[in-house]
Amino acid sequence: MENTENTPKKVMLSGIQPSGDLHLGNYLGAIRNWAGRADQFDCFYFMADMHTITVRQNPADLRRRTLEQLAQYIACGLDPEKNTLFVQSHVHQHAELGWVLNCYTMFGELSRMTQFKDKADRHKENVNGGLFTYPCLMAADILLYQPDFVPVGEDQKQHVELTRNIVQRFNGIYGDVFKMPEPFIPKAGARVMGLSAPESKMSKSVPEGCVFLMEQPEDIRRKFKRAVTDSDTEHCVRYDPEKKPGVSNLMTIYSAVTGKSYEEIESEFDGQGYGAFKPAVGDAVIETLRPIREETQRLLKDKAYLEDVYRTGAQRASAVAEKTLRKVYKKVGFLQR
Ligand code: TYM
Repeated sequence: MENTENTPKKVMLSGIQPSGDLHLGNYLGAIRNWAGRADQFDCFYFMADMHTITVRQNPADLRRRTLEQLAQYIACGLDPEKNTLFVQSHVHQHAELGWVLNCYTMFGELSRMTQFKDKADRHKENVNGGLFTYPCLMAADILLYQPDFVPVGEDQKQHVELTRNIVQRFNGIYGDVFKMPEPFIPKAGARVMGLSAPESKMSKSVPEGCVFLMEQPEDIRRKFKRAVTDSDTEHCVRYDPEKKPGVSNLMTIYSAVTGKSYEEIESEFDGQGYGAFKPAVGDAVIETLRPIREETQRLLKDKAYLEDVYRTGAQRASAVAEKTLRKVYKKVGFLQR
């Protein structure tokens, strides 16, 4: 991932659905891994609003969350001067390439996607076509920008792998059209588990086990105090995801926000039990999130600035996306305008 002076910058791209408020899993698994890369990479980050409507949304809430998410991206350290920040639906090329890629993705491949199976199970009344072909739109999101790396949490790896299969198939027919992207998964925080049920990933659908970036310190503190630890008799802070999933998850979070290794954490809390450990994790998270929350609140007061950021972002993104789309349209045989 080194970049030397004379070679063109490598490209990084990722997105998050504004389907709920951003949480600690999104931050540790994704956004934190995006920030501070703009000197070395050409970075594109977007609000994946088109993806959210695969599940029914309240329109006013979706609009509000999309803007809030942009403010949060900036507050998390993504400088809009150095990163291209945009709203997916503002760049029409996503939907257009998405359609083309639908025709190069197999029913069997889409049927194997865990996110589809999970969501289809949770929203039985609305198993729509968009939910099924969602990974084709995600592949389009990625491939339009020809990125080298796609920084995501563990749960999105399968979608990036499918994108790689699509690249192989498409390039196999038409030559080198798309660059092969690689998932870029963080070492700590790739899969943050829920605080109330550490066997499943932290997700907004289980709010009592989910820490939101904008949450008040006292609420965060309470959630960590109530975090499910393990029913073993040992009661010591030791990393063992098999036997002690609750404590191990808290250790992962603590390690991710403090930079301490598991060994350092074990000796820090040696002989102290869970009663001291849980609030310490809560406090470390509160201090990590405090500047992000305050900066987001400040930015949200300046709507004109945020509008300017997403308009400029869409223009820059669209210029890049259009080049790829033209190439694809030509390759598949669409008559040029
Ligand atoms: P989404 O919106 O569900 O999640 C956004 C990012 O947060 C990561 N993440 C987590 N990481 C660690 N622990 C968790 N508990 C946790 N929960 C979420 C996800 O891995 C992801 O990186 N399909 C994507 C959005 C998307 C996208 C793209 C991503 C649309 N187009 C193109 C990359 C490139 C999604 O649903 O992520």
